Amino acid sequence: MAYEKKILITGGAGFIGSHVVRLFVTKYPQYQIFNLDKLTYAGNLANLVDIENASNYQFVKGDIVDSTFINELFANHQFDAVIHLAAESHVDRSITHPMDFVFTNVVGTVNLLNAAKNLWKDDFTGHLFYHVSTDEVYGSLHDGGFFTEETSYDPQSPYSASKASSDHFVRAYHNTYKLPIVVSNCSNNYGPNHFPEKLIPLFINNIRNNKPLPVYGKGENVRDWLFVKDHARAIDAVFHKGKIGETYNIGGFNEWTNIDLIKVICKTMDKKLGRAEGESEKLITYVKDRAGHDLRYAIDANKIMKELGWEPSLQFEEGIELTIDWYINNSEWLDNVTSGEYMKYYQDQYTHR
Ligand code: NAD
Ligand code: TYD
Repeated sequence: MAYEKKILITGGAGFIGSHVVRLFVTKYPQYQIFNLDKLTYAGNLANLVDIENASNYQFVKGDIVDSTFINELFANHQFDAVIHLAAESHVDRSITHPMDFVFTNVVGTVNLLNAAKNLWKDDFTGHLFYHVSTDEVYGSLHDGGFFTEETSYDPQSPYSASKASSDHFVRAYHNTYKLPIVVSNCSNNYGPNHFPEKLIPLFINNIRNNKPLPVYGKGENVRDWLFVKDHARAIDAVFHKGKIGETYNIGGFNEWTNIDLIKVICKTMDKKLGRAEGESEKLITYVKDRAGHDLRYAIDANKIMKELGWEPSLQFEEGIELTIDWYINNSEWLDNVTSGEYMKYYQDQYTHR
């Protein structure tokens, strides 16, 4: 079958990437979807078992830092468009291993930009390089207000600095070479398939196992949470309707202090696990704060809502319940990803906090 478009999605075995791959493979049978992923600790093909045999889907194992491999891949497959999600994504790991973030997030992104530019150089018409980024590039909000697309970059962690750098390269390739690009910056995601190093799945897993819930500092930091499938729907909207060269902020207008969010998770888990009310909250343990911990993130999502007609489909209460149900019903997934190397990470990260 001749496909309408060949799309390369990077990082498709990860949390958000797997939801994006699934949406594109099932919604657009006229597109051929290539999922390029290195399968780091965060990449897991079990996230995609339901679509792994779809005729318009192909998995490729590889590293975006390897420019020779990337150039060959683009030459062999002649992609029409790229949706780039592959990244090192955890702030705590960026504090202990910043260079991994420089290589994958900065060098890897520039390798992909070069490969796209070289492949499409004779005619950019109909092509798109879509870079998926984060609201963390804007830094930390202290006095109210929201991040808009015009907010100046002010990254504070090695993770956000590496993402900010990659965003700048993507825009520089548009400005300098006219590469057709679009960038989106999204708030914190939650939902199924989230690796349990991040707050929500880590705490669900610890409650399940009756382990302490390590709250950094006083738990007063604020995050703006969006259900992962709504982010995937936003990526679909930006890919198809976004204007070349533009940036779109994505968020759910859904701010929570960590401690309030944790209490909702504890209450819901008590109900689901048939425990007495208040049982899980007893696991809350205040630990040493994260170095350079950003106080508050909050996205103004008006541009994507007004210009592209996207809005979140789920209220938070519904989304968090769905998420908790998913982890309870997929305890094997959790057990698999938390065996082996995860235990060493957990000990290094939390033993001396
Ligand atoms: P994740 O860590 O769950 O997944 C990242 C994926 O990239 C993994 O499958 C991993 O194997 C792959 N990968 C890592 N290094 C690679 C390399 N060198 N070559 C090829 N593949 C590699 O991350 P996520 O939470 O799904 O985030 C996806 C993207 O969305 C990232 O770019 C992140 O910055 C951005 N983002 C995440 C959030 C969030 O809340 N998780 C919010 C906004 C934006
Ligand atoms: P995280 O899920 O790592 O996302 P990000 O730092 O990218 O926003 O953390 C979300 C919030 O939860 C953040 O304020 C740090 C806090 N946190 C804890 O209090 N304890 C933990 O064990 C983790 C992983 C995070």
